[in-house]
Amino acid sequence: MSMHARWLDERRREHYHKLAKEEGYRSRASFKIMQIDDHFNIFKRGNSIVDLGASPGGWLQVARERVGASGKVIGVDLKPIKPINGVTTIIGDITNNDTVFDLLDKLKGKADIVLSDMAPNITGCYSIDHARSIHLCMSAIDICNRILKINGQFVTKVFMGNMLNILMNRLKTHFQSVKIYSPDASRPTSSEIYVISKGFLPSTTSNIQCIKKSKDNNEFYKRGDLP
Ligand SMILES: C[S@@+](CC[C@H](N)C(=O)[O-])C[C@H]1O[C@@H](n2cnc3c(N)ncnc32)[C@H](O)[C@@H]1O
Repeated sequence: MSMHARWLDERRREHYHKLAKEEGYRSRASFKIMQIDDHFNIFKRGNSIVDLGASPGGWLQVARERVGASGKVIGVDLKPIKPINGVTTIIGDITNNDTVFDLLDKLKGKADIVLSDMAPNITGCYSIDHARSIHLCMSAIDICNRILKINGQFVTKVFMGNMLNILMNRLKTHFQSVKIYSPDASRPTSSEIYVISKGFLPSTTSNIQCIKKSKDNNEFYKRGDLP
């Protein structure tokens, strides 16, 4: 990364960090979900939202505001989340079945939207971090299959890399529309992007078919490809 890019990155991080403090949000990540919502019109009043990887709670605060008092918001994370008015939280690993049962129990029905800003612990070895990020996304899709309403929406963070096409193909088997987006609040040099999927259709397609499709297509998404 050049000195100039690093300087710009740092300025952007500071800007959103300051803004989050001023506006009472727990993390600058709040602005990412606001910008995603402003662009893709995700939240509606009265929606039920499940946020995977929700700590410290920046996305939960925005979801709570945007779905209003008639909505339902549930956050899940390995780490505890300080209470937020009108938000239910679960401490647990989303890849563990007990956590999913706890979620089903608290949700009492199906969700309109599943969000995931999950990130693996960074090892410093990019291929491992990328693979773990893809694995978290795949686990989140498994959860969508259990809790998301037909026509529901799914927003997920993912670290870019050569397995992104496998994820995109799996999403395309489940959703009518799948788009990649990088909100302004994401650092330009960051490897994270967000995938916004709309129109959920529960499907019986296996991962193996998705991997085959990826090999045939040989698609590879880079930051320059973003809309
Ligand atoms: C970038 S933070 C989320 C920030 C959050 N969106 C916000 O606005 O405050 C990523 C979170 O993913 C969580 N996470 C990673 N793997 C997870 C897993 N298997 N189950 C649940 N949470 C997980 C981490 O504990 C971490 O808190």
